[in-house]
Amino acid sequence: MAKQRILAFPEGFLWGTASAAYQNEGGNTNTQMARWEQQGHFAPGVQCGEAANWWQMAEDDFALAEQMGNTALRLSIEWSRIEPVEGHWDSAAVDRYRAMLTDLQRRHIKPVVTLHHFTEPLWLVDRGGLAKETNRRFFVRYVTHVVQQLGDLCDFWLTINEPNSYAFAGHLGPYPGERNVVHTLHVLRNLMQVHVEAFYAIRRLQPEGQIGYCLHYRLFDPAHPRSPLDRAVAGLHETCFNWAALQAGETGRFPFPLNLLLTPLAHAPGSRDYHGVNYYTRDLVRFDPTHAGELFGRRFTRPDALHGDPGMDNHLSEIYAEGLYRVLKTIHRRTRDNKPLYITENGMCDALDDRRPRAILEHLAMVHRAISEGIPVLGYLHWTLVDNFEWAAGWRARMGLIELDPLTQRRTPRRSASLFGEICRANAITEEIVARYAPEAVDSIFRPVSASPREYSAPSPSQAGSRP
Ligand code: FCB
Repeated sequence: MAKQRILAFPEGFLWGTASAAYQNEGGNTNTQMARWEQQGHFAPGVQCGEAANWWQMAEDDFALAEQMGNTALRLSIEWSRIEPVEGHWDSAAVDRYRAMLTDLQRRHIKPVVTLHHFTEPLWLVDRGGLAKETNRRFFVRYVTHVVQQLGDLCDFWLTINEPNSYAFAGHLGPYPGERNVVHTLHVLRNLMQVHVEAFYAIRRLQPEGQIGYCLHYRLFDPAHPRSPLDRAVAGLHETCFNWAALQAGETGRFPFPLNLLLTPLAHAPGSRDYHGVNYYTRDLVRFDPTHAGELFGRRFTRPDALHGDPGMDNHLSEIYAEGLYRVLKTIHRRTRDNKPLYITENGMCDALDDRRPRAILEHLAMVHRAISEGIPVLGYLHWTLVDNFEWAAGWRARMGLIELDPLTQRRTPRRSASLFGEICRANAITEEIVARYAPEAVDSIFRPVSASPREYSAPSPSQAGSRP
């Protein structure tokens, strides 16, 4: 009998899922997202409501994660619960998080805790939120409080979830924020700086902790690779969205052309212990002189690509596994600190779960490929455990390994949940697993290394910045 092929992951590799307080807990009206919903800015009916009801019963889902053999779970602490009114600490909220983290520990699931996942308390929002430089001290004070209260139960912290997408989506996209490019870039800088300050505050309290943040990496490929204009605008998108934050976090300095507007960050070098990588999709970009608002690029998804659920307004649309490999490679190449990488989010919208099993396998094969080339990827957290409230897309975006009916709170594990469980328990992808869940992908998943995708070489910042 032919030997079974296998992609084995390193011992101790972290396997789990990622989630966020507002999207999972439910019943929170004290944040800007809730206000935004109430004011009717999202499509009719888009309401978080009870979400996945984690404020009452997260532990039931933690039990499902344990059954899946998960060894890590990413959740966030909701600032507006911990400090609902400026300077007032809610000890009952701290107790609730203590109970959740204790439950995870009991199940031998490592808590990975985000301290800011898009939402802010209304009292802060009314003072300008984290978009405002003078408000950074409030975040540092809150973070200090959380680590003092919960540091005995957690040593893996993400300060800010996706400073880049929070700045861009909040200020140019569909979320609360001022619509202005220059302001957006200043918000990005402020979020990066607040991370640095929070990093040192946590480091003082927990010298052995793993402290970092994650960025959202979205690839932008030129619609016509031979067109210099398409290449230039795609490169500019990549620089502004992905690499500016990565480089600033690493060196303190923003690349051209952002450095014309943004002053260097103070004390940035060394202010992280790992790179958190959130990856979902890519866009193609075509030069369009009429589209100044999007840096003269028009974005679209490759029409013949495999897509997430239709009708999602280009929401994390193309399912493109090779992109994860390209992102990991590029981060590693662009940073010299050899810090470990964790995939802190990766997933897809697929209510019927007819594309997700194959997509999970193919993305993980790309992670394995990166590891086999020496990139220190130490964990993979799938977005997400149970369907949750997907911001502006509401309940239309079904990203859970487990289906949730938000009206009845009934859970139904998808096939992907059992697949993910098998992978976690085996710490490997075996040929036999692939043959059962996505037989059509056996060859692509186990293809010889030489036939694997090329390394991505993004245009250098100077190329990217040259005006079309
Ligand atoms: C990420 C967000 C997360 C979730 C996924 C789908 O950008 O961090 O909250 O919405 O996208």
